[in-house]
Amino acid sequence: MNFDNKTVLVTGANRGIGKALVEALLKKNVKKVYACSRDIKNVPDFGDSRVVLIQLDISDSTQIQNATRNARDTQILINNAGVISPGGLFDCDLKRDMEINYFSTIQMMKAFVPVLEQNPEARIINIASIASYVNFPFIAGYSASKAALYSATQAARIELRSKGIAVHAVNPGAIDTDMNKGSTMDMTSPTEVAFSILNEVEKEVEDIIPDKIGRGMYEMWERSPKELEAFSRKMYEELTAGK
Ligand SMILES: NC(=O)c1ccc[n+]([C@@H]2O[C@H](COP(=O)([O-])OP(=O)(O)OC[C@H]3O[C@@H](n4cnc5c(N)ncnc54)[C@H](OP(=O)(O)O)[C@@H]3O)[C@@H](O)[C@H]2O)c1
Repeated sequence: MNFDNKTVLVTGANRGIGKALVEALLKKNVKKVYACSRDIKNVPDFGDSRVVLIQLDISDSTQIQNATRNARDTQILINNAGVISPGGLFDCDLKRDMEINYFSTIQMMKAFVPVLEQNPEARIINIASIASYVNFPFIAGYSASKAALYSATQAARIELRSKGIAVHAVNPGAIDTDMNKGSTMDMTSPTEVAFSILNEVEKEVEDIIPDKIGRGMYEMWERSPKELEAFSRKMYEELTAGK
C-alpha cells in the first residue's frame, strides 16, 4: 500500500496530529485531502490546492451526512478528532469523552462505509491511544473511551474485511500537542508521529504504536498487562501525592 494518488479525509485537521497528518499526506503525493474541522476558519493555510476544507463536527449527524455527500471519492478515512477530560472516573466528563471519542467516531465509520466500499483500496485509520491497553485514572473517562474505540476498531476490522476495507488502530503514547499542554515528558512531535503513522499503514501494520513513549508502555503490556497497570498506578500516585 502507498498513499500516492489517494484521496484521504482527516477529521480534526486544524491542529495537532490532524494538521501534521495533512502535511505529511501532501508530502506523500496524495491526490486530495479533505481537511475537516469544526470551524474551517481555524484550519491553517496549507498552501496546496489538493486540500479541500469541510466543516465537520463529528458529533453532528447532519454534518456527517453532508461530509459523506461532499467527499464521495474518499478512499481513506482518518478518524483523528478527539477530546480529553481530566480527572478520575467519578469527576471527569465521562459522557463527553465517550460521546466524541467513541460514539461519534463509530458514527463516522458507519456513515463512510457506503462511500468507502465504492472506492478502490479503501481503509479506515482510527486514532485511539495507548490508554486502550490500560486505564490512566487521572484521565479515566478518556482511557475508557479509547479502550472502547480500540475494541470497536477490532470489530470493524473483522466486519469490513469482506467489503475490502482495511482498518487500522493507532495507539500513541504521548505526543507534543495541545492535549498535553504543560507536560514535561519527552514527547514525540506531531510531524514525526504523522510520518510514523503513514509509514506503518504503508507496511499494512494493523495496530500501530507510533511513538517512543507508547512503545515503551506497549512493551510493558506485552510482558504482562499487570506490569503496565502497576506503571499506571505509580503515575497516578505520584500525580496525586499530597493532594
Ligand atoms: N497528544 C497525545 O499525546 C495523544 C495520545 C494518544 C492519542 N491521541 C489522540 O490523537 C488525536 C488527536 O489529538 P491531538 O493530540 O492532536 O489533540 P488536539 O491538539 O487537542 O486536537 C484535537 C483535534 O480534535 C478536534 N475535535 C475535538 N472535538 C471535535 C468534534 N466534536 N468534531 C470534530 N473535531 C473535533 C479538535 O478541533 P477543535 O480545534 O475545533 O477543538 C482538534 O482539531 C485524538 O483522538 C487524541 O485522543 C493523542
